Amino acid sequence: MQQKIIILDFGSQTTQLIGRRVRELGTFCEVLPYNKFPHDDPSVIGVILGGSPYSVYDPEAFQIDLSRIRGRLPILGICYGAQYMSHIYGGKVEPAATREYGRANLDTFEADNPLLRGLDAGSQVWMSHGDTITAIPEGFRCIASTSKVKYAAYQADGEQLWGVQFHPEVFHSLQGTQLLRNFVVDICGSRQDWSAASFVETTVEEIRSQVGGDRVILGLSGGVDSSVAAVLLNKAIGDRLTCIFVDHGMLRKDEFANVMHDYECLGLNVIGVDASAKFFADLQGVTDPEQKRKIIGRDFVEVFNAEAQKIKDAKWLAQGTIYPDRIESLNITGKVIKSHHNVGGLPKDMHLSLCEPLRWLFKDEVRRVGRQMGMPEHLITRHPFPGPGLAVRILGDITPERVRILQEADDIYIRTMRDYKVRLSGEEARRVLAAGVPADLDRNGEIEVSLYDQVWQAGAVLLTTVRSVGVMGDERTYEHPVALRAVTSTDAMSADWAHLPYDFMAKVSNDIINHVKGVNRVCYDISSKPPSTIEWE
Ligand code: XMP
Repeated sequence: MQQKIIILDFGSQTTQLIGRRVRELGTFCEVLPYNKFPHDDPSVIGVILGGSPYSVYDPEAFQIDLSRIRGRLPILGICYGAQYMSHIYGGKVEPAATREYGRANLDTFEADNPLLRGLDAGSQVWMSHGDTITAIPEGFRCIASTSKVKYAAYQADGEQLWGVQFHPEVFHSLQGTQLLRNFVVDICGSRQDWSAASFVETTVEEIRSQVGGDRVILGLSGGVDSSVAAVLLNKAIGDRLTCIFVDHGMLRKDEFANVMHDYECLGLNVIGVDASAKFFADLQGVTDPEQKRKIIGRDFVEVFNAEAQKIKDAKWLAQGTIYPDRIESLNITGKVIKSHHNVGGLPKDMHLSLCEPLRWLFKDEVRRVGRQMGMPEHLITRHPFPGPGLAVRILGDITPERVRILQEADDIYIRTMRDYKVRLSGEEARRVLAAGVPADLDRNGEIEVSLYDQVWQAGAVLLTTVRSVGVMGDERTYEHPVALRAVTSTDAMSADWAHLPYDFMAKVSNDIINHVKGVNRVCYDISSKPPSTIEWE
């Protein structure tokens, strides 16, 4: 049985990070709303209570009845989790006299406590709370203090119940991973056997028992998530999976043919639908970005549904939804963090049930799973690409000719980026490795990757609403500029413009202007998100 740790979500944005850290320890975990603890699941080996934007005294603060968990499973409360347990078991929590925020050091702690073993004296931790514990319940013992926070950590005597007011999951808690390892491995007894291989094995079994002998439909986009989901389903149920890949005519140069070829090589049963004529006709003369998105979304659903209806006995719709896509729906405080962009929609009258085999995975884990199943590297490390495609990268109205111009410019940009190698070290190397890019640190602590793998996403934008004068040979030109966009990011929620090397930009600009008829100027977009967005429309 796959062991798991349950992380109860009380609304803090770092709860997701706790999940990441536990996974990095080779242990499967699920982040669930605070009130959805699976009491009857025998595979749970431990519980972590996360932080919260609320104070324990707020009337709307989330409450949980721990009576069926305490004494049965090891519990670790983090920040609000620690304050909450202290509060309900008879301790005292009060507003802190000064805000306890930022770096602090564990000046005194019980070095042989199972939770704190291996930590160095003065270990740096990260605090972030407005309230503080001023008295712990009877039978609880203080096991760590900082100069400002007396009850930085506590344990219930003789019980497997701990609370820490700092955040071991964040980068600035330098030995936070050691503390989490102590809890997850030593205290909860994790076998640390969760890996891409074990994920594939258990998920294939799960899919088989979930869908039985039914037929499943899946919409492919050419992106990593839907492709990995398709290969996983194919492994589980073979040709009872039918994939649909809609070409709206605004994909990258040769992308439809290339991706169809990749899918066929992977043994997928794919129906490719060339619906570009319909999309171009419906987009004719449309310049407003939202209008474009609405038309594409609507047309996509129509085309997809028409194909899906032909698969008569389908009972399931599979999607490549991954964990970060669901944060919004899981966000229990009701604050919208990210609005969903995904086009497509459930063909309602077909009464399909949803199958989302990647729903617990982070992006880098999806990549590892894809690799584990032998998918080609170019499919796995592909940059994100918006559902409406180049339509949101052509400012002004969209014509097949304009799409062709942008495809050519974009192709030069991306190909040059794939060929250009960079050496990275330190933080930058760690960020790229953490995103799942395969590279080995050499003895100088450096990695060599392509510029394409260094950035999160890149693409060209055609500004058809602007024309400028140029000169080519003896001829005056009066044509459109292309803007190049490249960003670094970890989740697309915020992004910085990538600092591309000048020689790379010089080559790309030169090649685009010399080879793409209709473009006489190239600019580079130096805006970060926020306040700009990654896509121009
Ligand atoms: P923005 O432009 O909002 O983009 O900063 C954030 C990320 O989302 C991608 N994006 C989309 N993806 N359908 C998608 O599947 C869409 O309509 C869409 N719009 C933007 C964008 O490429 C970036 O990765």
